[in-house]
Amino acid sequence: MNMCELIVKKKRGGRLNEKEIDWIVQGYTAGEIPDYQMSAMLMAICFTGMDEEETKDLTLSMAKSGDLMDLSAIHGKKIDKHSTGGVGDKTTLVIGPLAAAAGVPVAKMSGRGLGHTGGTIDKLESFHGFHTSLTPEQFIKNVNSIHIALAGQTANLAPADKKIYALRDVTGTVDQMSLIASSIMSKKLASGADGIVLDVKTGDGAFMKTLEDSKALAREMVQIGTLAGRDMSAVISDMDQPLGYAVGNALEVKEAIATLNGNGPEDLRELVLVLTSLMVVKAGKAKDIREARILLEETLDSGKALQVMKEWIVAQGGTAEEVEHPDLLPQALCQEAVCAEKSGFVTKIHTEEIGRICMLLGGGRAKKGDPIDLSVGLVLRKKVGDPVHSGESLAILHANDREKLAEAKERLLKAYEIKKEPVAVRPLIWEILD
Ligand code: URA
Repeated sequence: MNMCELIVKKKRGGRLNEKEIDWIVQGYTAGEIPDYQMSAMLMAICFTGMDEEETKDLTLSMAKSGDLMDLSAIHGKKIDKHSTGGVGDKTTLVIGPLAAAAGVPVAKMSGRGLGHTGGTIDKLESFHGFHTSLTPEQFIKNVNSIHIALAGQTANLAPADKKIYALRDVTGTVDQMSLIASSIMSKKLASGADGIVLDVKTGDGAFMKTLEDSKALAREMVQIGTLAGRDMSAVISDMDQPLGYAVGNALEVKEAIATLNGNGPEDLRELVLVLTSLMVVKAGKAKDIREARILLEETLDSGKALQVMKEWIVAQGGTAEEVEHPDLLPQALCQEAVCAEKSGFVTKIHTEEIGRICMLLGGGRAKKGDPIDLSVGLVLRKKVGDPVHSGESLAILHANDREKLAEAKERLLKAYEIKKEPVAVRPLIWEILD
């Protein structure tokens, strides 16, 4: 095969067959195809697209480029949940223990945060001593005994995606639907779950800003997973304002614990219940969504899920004391309110900017490997639709650096739009593809 001919074929809108896609993916991963040719191919895909079959072939080729996790030693149907990333999205921290307490085996591979959205591992490292370096034996033993374990993605999980994603990042080829869908799904398929519930975010703080694009991405990923024999569902959920109130690693852990204690924000609890209900039905622990919801509300409200959270944190090096007393988690030195300069109603929160303010304070990383400050971030006091009086606090900033705090305050004021008339609040759940 000849890479130049394949690039020209794609540039002219032709379709690549399974063998050609596999040749490109494996050749690029092995270093036999240079970056400049792969970049040209990715750009050609951006311009002329890929059909369903090509997208599936690309996904499967990237999935098999490295290790395929064997979870067969874990009892029961393994159901994974994946979010496309948002601001204040701490659902995994609640869903993991909740699903586990309801009997669903949760064998989760997670990543670190990059850009304005946070990563679950970073958040969990707010617990002193928590680690994700479990041996495969320990990982399986933990899922079989307490129903939950979370590991970092191994270096050899879909290495083709790792290399292609890094190239996309620097060649302006990230935002193509088939490339995004295949990138996410290659890692999910390699992680070995029997079923996957996708939480596809839509809105200002999400990767996909429009409902139309979010639906198309969800449909594409559901299709790929189904073709690969996985039990798939997708929820399109709103990310036009942060989920819950807390944004920042330790602050989000505290909010997740509050939710497990029955004192969390309503939107977070609702999204958790919707996503986990789908997982529970797929795992065969309830006959339908209604039954699953009743089971989960009881599991949450009785404290069983909180108990599993403690067992999970202890099993991975932390202490139950920090779950019982979240004030022991990392705390920033300064906490300052940002107050509204006029009265009215909150009509919009520029959500991506809220994520960037958290990054500015030190809570996120601009590039892989950057250190992060687990204690900083912000806690919103007002959300879209809320009335606000001049001088009332919009949010509390948690910072360790006065200069950054001053800039964050200025930017936060601009991130809130306050108008005389209220606006209709967008729904939390836009659609469920089941
Ligand atoms: N997340 C991924 O893993 N891949 C993409 O292409 C986009 C988001």
